[in-house]
Amino acid sequence: MPPTALEAATAPIMRRMNPLLGRLNPYPFERWRGLTAGLTPNPALRAISLGIGEPRHATPALVEQALVGAIEAKSLSQYPPTAGSPALRQACADWLGRRYGVSLDAATQLLPVGGSREALFAIAQTVVDASRPGATVVCPNPFYQIYEGAALLAGAQVAFANSDPSRNFAADWGQISAETWARTQLLYVCSPGNPTGAVMPLAEWATLFKLSDEHGFVIASDECYSEIYFRDEPPLGGLEAAAKLGRSDFKNLIAFTSLSKRSNVPGLRAGFVAGDAALIKNFLLYRTYHGSAMGPLVQAASIAAWGDEAHVVANRALYRAKFAQVTPVLAAELDVALPDAGFYLWAAVPGVAGRPGDDIAFGQQLLAQYNVAVLPGSLLARDAHGSNPGAGRIRMALVAETAECLEAAHRIAEFTRSYRNALG
Ligand SMILES: Cc1ncc(COP(=O)(O)O)c(C=O)c1O
Repeated sequence: MPPTALEAATAPIMRRMNPLLGRLNPYPFERWRGLTAGLTPNPALRAISLGIGEPRHATPALVEQALVGAIEAKSLSQYPPTAGSPALRQACADWLGRRYGVSLDAATQLLPVGGSREALFAIAQTVVDASRPGATVVCPNPFYQIYEGAALLAGAQVAFANSDPSRNFAADWGQISAETWARTQLLYVCSPGNPTGAVMPLAEWATLFKLSDEHGFVIASDECYSEIYFRDEPPLGGLEAAAKLGRSDFKNLIAFTSLSKRSNVPGLRAGFVAGDAALIKNFLLYRTYHGSAMGPLVQAASIAAWGDEAHVVANRALYRAKFAQVTPVLAAELDVALPDAGFYLWAAVPGVAGRPGDDIAFGQQLLAQYNVAVLPGSLLARDAHGSNPGAGRIRMALVAETAECLEAAHRIAEFTRSYRNALG
């Protein structure tokens, strides 16, 4: 294949750079910008975006006050340790105890991170040994694109397990061959899932732990949506699953937890990882060189946020009320249901003769005619095992105020009726 214009333009630079950078795929939003560049969204309607999954509910005052308090305490005059302060680590461990009933040693089984994104990337750099033949990282499909970029930059190849809509969008781990598992060094899981909202049940965890024991790979469990849920029972966490299955040392498991969605602070960049002490020790070593210590202001705000549950309950109630109003409007026209958790709706768009619909065309026409942005599902997934499991679906992030989400839902429902009629 001849090089694309972008490849031709960047080739001379790439020759002098880390060649692995050339393996990175454009981010879904970048691709979507390209696919909508020539469109004029209907100017008669106010623009509404359900595209980006960025929390928009208000940041709790107690977090802002803790930031101010930390400035007043003149905490900026020293370098913070990469491991975080003992008080922060204890606040995180205490939260894990309250939330999941697990007991972790704050000194050896836990580390603060600057949001889960950087840590999900960094863990691959810590774990993957690219000198071993066929180094492989396994990801769910669709997935959060950082997993793939982290694997590629660590020098690994990526194998995908497609989500199965007939089993509540669970990843079909059976699609990964025994030979691939044998080469696997790292497995990413995302529960509650982005974009599907599915929560992994205990039986699935048991399967993955068995495979990890057999092949020695690390499980990185992305749990950043754990506090926004719609069932009575809170989502099962990876550490909780391990403890329930008698794995009290959390062998080969590391869980990623974030304040971004729980406490509406995506701008704070705060979270933590917890799990296997041997992994945490090596992760700390990596992070010391990477220079990812959490600043004292963010540490103080984090302690305040992890210590308070009232704002989390209130935030969840807002999402529940919003989803209860918006989902039925969309479900009247689209194949969509309330997810287990998270803040996305993952809907199938109309198709012809039982085949998946065209999510790109649907998204483009919706934007042009009704000025509503959604994210086509095929951009969130890769072709694997003969299909793109995101194809025929759209992701809608219900992060705006309820009234705005409702208006978008009514526009999408109206559009879907005409789109379906046009399909015949
Ligand atoms: C699945 C998933 N994991 C991780 C993140 C990163 O979140 P943060 O870095 O804010 O913790 C996101 C952000 O949208 C996400 O969707």
